[in-house]
Amino acid sequence: MENQETNARGTWGSKIAFIFAAAGSAIGLGNIWRFPTQVSQNGGAVFVLVYIIAVALIGLTVMLAELTIGRHAQKNPVGAIEHIKPRSPWKLFGYLGVITGVCILSFYSVAAGWAVGYMVKTASGAFRGEVTGQMTDRIFTEFSADPLQVILLLAIIVGLTTFIISRGVKKGIERWTKILMPILFVLIIFLAIRALTLPGAGKGLVFYLKPDFSKFSGTVVLFALGQAFFSLSLGMGTMITYGSYISKSDNLVSSAGWVTFSDTLIAILAGMIIFPTLAFSGQPGDVGGVGLIYKIFPIIFSQIPGGYIFGTLFFALISVAALTSTISLLEVPVAYLVDEKNWSRTKAALGIGTLAFVLGVPSALSSGGTQIFTKLRIFYWFDFIFGNISLAVGALLICVFVGYVWGVKKALQEVFSGNPRFKLKPFWVFSLKFLSPIAIIIILIFIKTIAG
Ligand code: PFF
Repeated sequence: MENQETNARGTWGSKIAFIFAAAGSAIGLGNIWRFPTQVSQNGGAVFVLVYIIAVALIGLTVMLAELTIGRHAQKNPVGAIEHIKPRSPWKLFGYLGVITGVCILSFYSVAAGWAVGYMVKTASGAFRGEVTGQMTDRIFTEFSADPLQVILLLAIIVGLTTFIISRGVKKGIERWTKILMPILFVLIIFLAIRALTLPGAGKGLVFYLKPDFSKFSGTVVLFALGQAFFSLSLGMGTMITYGSYISKSDNLVSSAGWVTFSDTLIAILAGMIIFPTLAFSGQPGDVGGVGLIYKIFPIIFSQIPGGYIFGTLFFALISVAALTSTISLLEVPVAYLVDEKNWSRTKAALGIGTLAFVLGVPSALSSGGTQIFTKLRIFYWFDFIFGNISLAVGALLICVFVGYVWGVKKALQEVFSGNPRFKLKPFWVFSLKFLSPIAIIIILIFIKTIAG
């Protein structure tokens, strides 16, 4: 039975296969779209600094905690918690993860749909010739306000995700990510070099990398922490689920380290493209807005000979990077229904996929598509509530669960398997039991003040 369950979800061929899959989940729109947007809206370099600290001190701690639970229990989040602490209210954490997964999937697929739309737009020559900030601004505004188009693109993303998940993760996705992710990485480096050599790039770099501490605030910390969880796919059990397929002989600490490092590197590089290009086009760093990258990337492509081919390829690769994340979002609720409720994979994928689509429609229509949803800022609120708060609450629960309920001693036994000399042990224990939960609690209390 155990075997069947595992096979129904697919298993990683090797440690490298796991790292690719987990990095595939972590690396996505969170790095290339959400990170630069948040930097732009939250004070520039100060945000970057707080973000890096949050990733190193808290993100990595939670990542290792989730992988440890997953590998120990070899189950989906709900099943894993039940396995470790049977018949306890901690199971609710699992449900929170399942609900969060569906809700993030809904608005995330909207933004992923934009990438697909931009791939087609770029390929059909919309950005050839002279490309200015005003022009890209207008194009994005019109594009994202076209109701039928955004809903169709949302349907394409959710449909593809549902199809892949109903087929099982291993064959298609594992093989493709191994080829496509490195190509994306090379292309990002190339674009960063081009952006950094544009006239005026330095001004953008100052906004991006030279902290102006007068911009520091609790809001910056809240968003940086939320972004760390979002980008690393933490706080809703994704890494519990992915960790459940790791072999007992693998080193969890170095796996967590690699995933965290590559995810952070890609985010930092994305900013190296966006902010110099923004300065080059004569705009301030804090123009923000969810369309930021869609307004900026076409400008950099226009500065490269044959740029529209690069542009098409780039948006295609972002779409793939987004897909490797959407499948991980869908995998959590599906694994739960398959394992705990005995649903077939196809039925579970179709059911949750449909729900995510329906929930995604208001977000799709809130960038001008309909007045009411635009006014209510549905996309923003879904992103804020599920992408920030819910993940932070989830991460807090993970720390308390591993640190106090399951107990560090038992968790450490699991970490030691595959890594008998765990040098960072004192730090991990300290962060898990004190630093991370206290920091998250302070931030969550702070939200009330922001909202109020
Ligand atoms: N980490 C993904 C990204 O940065 O694009 C988004 C994401 C995937 C968040 C899976 C949460 C999650 F569980």
